[in-house]
Amino acid sequence: MRLDKLLAHCGIGTRSEVKKYIRKGYVCVNEQIIKKDDYKIDVEKDVVYFDNELIEYRQYVYLMLNKPAGYISATKDNVHPTVLELIEGYDNYDLFPVGRLDIDTEGFLIISNDGDFAHRLLAPSRNHDKVYYAKIEGVVDQYDVETFYKGVEIDTGYVCKSSKLTILSTDEDSSEIEVVIQEGKFHQVKKMFDAIGKPVTYLKRTQIRSIELDQSLELGEFRELDEQEINDLFDEL
Ligand code: URA
Repeated sequence: MRLDKLLAHCGIGTRSEVKKYIRKGYVCVNEQIIKKDDYKIDVEKDVVYFDNELIEYRQYVYLMLNKPAGYISATKDNVHPTVLELIEGYDNYDLFPVGRLDIDTEGFLIISNDGDFAHRLLAPSRNHDKVYYAKIEGVVDQYDVETFYKGVEIDTGYVCKSSKLTILSTDEDSSEIEVVIQEGKFHQVKKMFDAIGKPVTYLKRTQIRSIELDQSLELGEFRELDEQEINDLFDEL
């Protein structure tokens, strides 16, 4: 890869900015100052420093975002802000949200630039668990737990796969629940509760497969998935 391309990809500056830095002698490759912007780098072997800071090239990134309400899970939207507007410092990575949470849903959304990973994680045949916490209008009861276990009918005649519904608490007119689903139909959790006449008033995704949303992330904050989390996700795909 060209040296100027690598530095731009790693967020050092625009292509023309990094060319200037290179010419001014800010960049070392294998302990030698390099002033040619088209100098070819072996990203596996060469050690590159910019202004005495090690440049770590990565082709793919995997981020865990705690999505707030009000943001669209898309790369572009003419009306609402997108989840990508919450991600700073990764301008050259062509990121996209892996899957979708509704605009009013909060919680765990993976942001990446690895299309193959996204494809495998989202494939309907793969049956990945996704865990949601929800507040419900109405009293969820054992009968609902069994209905979810057997498969709730949503839309016209579509019966959802068996899902595990756990009642966390109830009072006279509302409930808190956790539900584990394996499918990812449009508005699925909301439709499942609409089908039993007890609408969702708040929804948050808390887990994807074995990876739990990091409790220390405030709404709108993100961090990179660590190596263990990435390995776990890939192992399960
Ligand atoms: N199910 C929904 O209804 N909404 C979401 O955002 C995710 C799952």
